[in-house]
Amino acid sequence: MLKSHGCGEIRLSHVGQKVQLAGWVHRRRDHGGVTFIDLRDASGRVQVVIRPGVISNEIESIANIRDEYVLMVVGEVHARLEGSQNTDLSTGDIEIKVEEVVVLNSSETPPFPINQEITITEATRLQYRYLDLRRDRMTSNIRLRHKVIKHIRDFLDGRNFIEIETPVLGLATPEGARDYLVPSRVHPGSFYALPQSPQQWKQLLMVSGFERYFQIVKCYRDEDLRADRQPEFTQLDLEMSFVNESDVMQLNEELIISLLEKYALGYKWNSSFPQMTYATAMEKYGTDRPDLRYGLEINDYSDVFQDSDFKVFSSAIEKGGRIRGIVVPGGAKFSRKTLDHFIDSAREAGAGGLIWIQINGTGLIEEISIDDIKSPAVKFLSVDEVIQLAKIGNASRGDLVILAADTDQITSKVLDLVRRDAASKLELIDSKRLDFVWITEFPLFEWDSDESRWSATHHLFTAPLDGDKKYLDSDPSLVRSRAYDVVCNGQEIGGGSIRIHKREDQLQVLGLLGISEEDADEKFGHMLNAFEFGAPPHGGIAWGMDRTVALLAGEHDIREVIAFPKTKSAVDLVTGAPANVSENQLHDVHISIDSIDEINSANDIMEEI
Ligand code: AMO
Repeated sequence: MLKSHGCGEIRLSHVGQKVQLAGWVHRRRDHGGVTFIDLRDASGRVQVVIRPGVISNEIESIANIRDEYVLMVVGEVHARLEGSQNTDLSTGDIEIKVEEVVVLNSSETPPFPINQEITITEATRLQYRYLDLRRDRMTSNIRLRHKVIKHIRDFLDGRNFIEIETPVLGLATPEGARDYLVPSRVHPGSFYALPQSPQQWKQLLMVSGFERYFQIVKCYRDEDLRADRQPEFTQLDLEMSFVNESDVMQLNEELIISLLEKYALGYKWNSSFPQMTYATAMEKYGTDRPDLRYGLEINDYSDVFQDSDFKVFSSAIEKGGRIRGIVVPGGAKFSRKTLDHFIDSAREAGAGGLIWIQINGTGLIEEISIDDIKSPAVKFLSVDEVIQLAKIGNASRGDLVILAADTDQITSKVLDLVRRDAASKLELIDSKRLDFVWITEFPLFEWDSDESRWSATHHLFTAPLDGDKKYLDSDPSLVRSRAYDVVCNGQEIGGGSIRIHKREDQLQVLGLLGISEEDADEKFGHMLNAFEFGAPPHGGIAWGMDRTVALLAGEHDIREVIAFPKTKSAVDLVTGAPANVSENQLHDVHISIDSIDEINSANDIMEEI
């Protein structure tokens, strides 16, 4: 080793010892001919003091040493003088008086400072990711990720789970996101697909009798990217035999809580996670991933306006829609601009608009007059209606009521947006809370109006609730599933289900999804056959590991916890992938590109960013 200790390991107990250290120049300062360098390596930082006359290789003088040079130093550990200790550094009580310096490598000036937390453009950070990863924030995120994954492996090993690797080159399947395809050289015209998740493999492992499987595994989905989505991401994937929903949920809850206890320092959370049905979540929060750190729940106000002459309300009710809304405490002070912003988001979400009502003045709500009501719809509202509204939503004077009149689908979407927006405007979000909740009883199917057919809400191996099987033939919209999602602070962290484990049940669901028996045999024959050889009842879950680590690290974008992420247009800025390949490589895999424009556009990707 070029070093006897890590820079961050030296303490007062080492005083008097000679040490050899190696690392990067984090920062240098010169004081009266003496050079102070904070030397950094993977273990931390230490102050080394270089006096004039110290021997060095290659360089004429110590003055040439700049930030990010790689040095080896030999010196003695000294206690720092009283008053000059640095309490921010774990090595802040000591310093190294250097006798010899060897420059192991020089460094260009980095494109951004490593030793400061400043704003750097995303493109520069990602292009020089190997330097970005030298910064404290990224180093500690990546180390946290390692610890979290190790903790999970140890926890599950202790519960008799075994980690089994599953293939990366697999079969493309219908449903789900778009696949990443890999052309086959030996089978012209045939393609593998990269796994969107190891769903089918883990179910087959249950048929094999392993009973408890897990894997920390890369998954690949060609979908639109955002802050919590990457084209390749990591799941904690697990599956268990002979279980029901509560067994899977209980085990996962224990695992999450054990992680929180160790790594979510400074946060508060519930010691057991509440459960909420999908129907309740949609009714109260307009979304299946509600943020429970604040109230602002949705109420149904349709009854108040049953006989209203106001066209917006009456026509929504006639169409089978409802008038739903939320009360925003203190929202009577919101400016016109803020209210217009809500209206704009509502329009983006597909609604015709929103009705807002501000209730002003002081005193009891029952005593309001028409002059206390401010609303663009004031001439269509009676004082009595506003009092009824206020009673349902528990509103007082000074509050704002926001109403949306439309189908449930639209009012949910709009009010979810308004709810989140209002919570952040009113600063109701406690950033030190982690509010986990299990969402259960999802609909098994959702109607895909583009394709005019049912599609699986979770995935097509999810079992229906026993009591709802009777609706499979008569009305699939009524069938609830045995799926569950774990949601935290408005984000889906993981999702899973109890699976179908019988061939005839699986065929029935495939049939309802419009997959013919012939297609079912071609695409899912291996699953259908496996179910005929004593498949045990089983179920499982997968967590988004990137999202989990981001949550623990207090990061909003999962790229902050991934060593080498892709940009939002799925480009790897370090290497420049994806890129065109040689004619020979294309020829080997029997692919010809139709138009040269397509090749050029691949080359242009780098320039666009
Ligand atoms: P699902 O598709 O819900 O379930 O995925 C599980 C979890 O993976 C995370 N996730 C993502 N994270 C980052 N980028 C993405 N593009 C991305 N897509 C999903 C989410 C999500 O909750 N096989 C099933 C699980 C099962 O039924 O056991 C599955 O993959 O946090």
